[in-house]
Amino acid sequence: MPRKIISGNWKMNLNLSSAITLTEGIKTAKTNQNYEMLVFPSSIHLQKVTEILNGSNILVGAQNIYPSTLNAFTGEICVDQLKDLGITYALVGHSERRQFLKESNEFLNQKILFLLKENFTAVFCIGETLEERESGKTFDVVKKQIHEGLKSVSKEDSKKIILAYEPVWAIGTGKVATPEQAEEVHLFIRNELKSIFDESISNDISILYGGSVKADNIKALMSKPNIDGGLVGGASQKVETYLALFQ
Ligand code: 13P
Repeated sequence: MPRKIISGNWKMNLNLSSAITLTEGIKTAKTNQNYEMLVFPSSIHLQKVTEILNGSNILVGAQNIYPSTLNAFTGEICVDQLKDLGITYALVGHSERRQFLKESNEFLNQKILFLLKENFTAVFCIGETLEERESGKTFDVVKKQIHEGLKSVSKEDSKKIILAYEPVWAIGTGKVATPEQAEEVHLFIRNELKSIFDESISNDISILYGGSVKADNIKALMSKPNIDGGLVGGASQKVETYLALFQ
């Protein structure tokens, strides 16, 4: 069975005081125990957030890592620094980094292999742009992202992979994929994972959906057999709207 997770990507949207208010607000909440909580604060807030969440079962991850141990890479952060805070999760390949920072599938593959070697869980984001969808390339794009991103990942390490399907046209636009559109791609992803690993591994990998997830659409999305949770931006950045996703 895949893990069920409703994850929050805080992006670069919060200052310290709003990150603290949000962290304190979610820490004490009683939520639907069927879903794990995993949040991705900005790197500058990770220390504070992990301090506040100490003793809770809310998981914390980094929005990005550089694939190296401690070394001379100005402006980057690495796994050793995250381990100091007890962090073992990281996002890889968010479309904002692919698009604005020109991160390639090959570089994302380096990050994934590095994270897995260091015993981190990589939440690997994939998804097509509007132009790619409209020109009928969704499955080709997603297939290439999966195969190039997961190149050389061993069956053993595949247990530390979580996929997040985030159609770029649905991110921050209010234009959510319909449950049917999302399920179609999630099933495709599941089958690609089967071809890379095997059926039983593929059935155990969580595939999260991201893109304008809100309290009023989450139930219909999660009712689909291959949607195992969410990777949520906007709605995860306020206590009430994040907690409402767990109702
Ligand atoms: P929104 O939920 O704001 O559309 O963002 C989705 C996202 O990019 C999560 O990583």
